[in-house]
Amino acid sequence: MTEHKIVVSLADRSYPVIVGSGVSNQLQALIPKTAKRAAIVTQQKIPLKVNLEIESTTITIGDGEQHKNLQTIESISQQFAKFGLTRSDVVIGVGGGMVTDVAGFAAASWHRGTAVIHLPTTLVGMVDAAIGGKTGVNLDQGKNLVGAFWQPTAVICDVESLKTLPERETRCGLGEVAKYHFLSGDDLLAIELPERIARCVQIKAEIVSADEREQGGRAVLNYGHTLAHALERSSSFALAHGEAVAIGMIFAAHLARFMNRIDDDRLAYHYKVIRDTYRLGVELPKTIKRSDLVGLMRLDKKAIDGLTFVLDGKNGIEIVSGVEEKYIDQAFNAMQVI
Ligand SMILES: NC(=O)c1ccc[n+]([C@@H]2O[C@H](COP(=O)([O-])OP(=O)(O)OC[C@H]3O[C@@H](n4cnc5c(N)ncnc54)[C@H](O)[C@@H]3O)[C@@H](O)[C@H]2O)c1
Repeated sequence: MTEHKIVVSLADRSYPVIVGSGVSNQLQALIPKTAKRAAIVTQQKIPLKVNLEIESTTITIGDGEQHKNLQTIESISQQFAKFGLTRSDVVIGVGGGMVTDVAGFAAASWHRGTAVIHLPTTLVGMVDAAIGGKTGVNLDQGKNLVGAFWQPTAVICDVESLKTLPERETRCGLGEVAKYHFLSGDDLLAIELPERIARCVQIKAEIVSADEREQGGRAVLNYGHTLAHALERSSSFALAHGEAVAIGMIFAAHLARFMNRIDDDRLAYHYKVIRDTYRLGVELPKTIKRSDLVGLMRLDKKAIDGLTFVLDGKNGIEIVSGVEEKYIDQAFNAMQVI
């Protein structure tokens, strides 16, 4: 089967992303030559088991966003210490975005920076979370508030592992794929896996290469995410990330329409792509209150100047600060939120 190799170009921190069926057998070859030991961070139900020629230990972390916290980082770090992991060894994250975010942050802080390789096993992980070096954990006050930029040494997307992925998790991945649809204009559903994954990786790699630390263009990757993060929290994570991103993009489109950034046709196109093509939910849960969402959106990391969103417009998708509350109210009204 075809194998794809995409390079995330970041000078001396450039790395390959390998996409294909059975490609996890390339792991050993991609491990830094200095590494004598590997600490594998994973979860109980991850189907992908890795085989290594060097000494390894497996650290199993809890499942779900409630475990994406500093206690988990502390526990992982203590297990690194007991295992004797050194700075020249390697951390390997095997799992969804939750695992690769946590493993990445643990690696970033272990001895102030230890190599990490990610083997994402969800669609969200492959097209988004494992690529680009953003790592971190949640606080009670918000998602991903503590973290670091720490680029992996390599990313291996073995599409075989997607065979066991529950349908809902696949839908979540499609939420991120739909995001790339708006960023690139490509009809990504028209191409097969693993080409579709490789194309998403390529789009993300280009954006990350141009703005590694999100000082500008990289923020467009947060399309739909301002509301999505607030939705995830206010639903106590009953809404999964990709599901929340899909609703968040619809909200952003309404907002852009009320701000006169896009026309009715472009708003309708968002419904066509997200609801009709990718078959994702576009309704806000009735139990969620707008006042809670607005409060949480003010905590968003992008919100350095009032309420900040990534919005579609005549110049394409871009970051917009200081969005007036009247437009937010209008967008919530359009989506029938109390
Ligand atoms: N760092 C980034 O740039 C970035 C980007 C997007 C999302 N994220 C983060 O990623 C997380 C979401 O990632 P996710 O959607 O992959 O969720 P997840 O990692 O929580 O995985 C979802 C569920 O699927 C299970 N699972 C994973 N792989 C499986 C497989 N192959 N077969 C069966 N079950 C499997 C997991 O155990 C879990 O129960 C969030 O924490 C989000 O903040 C980070």
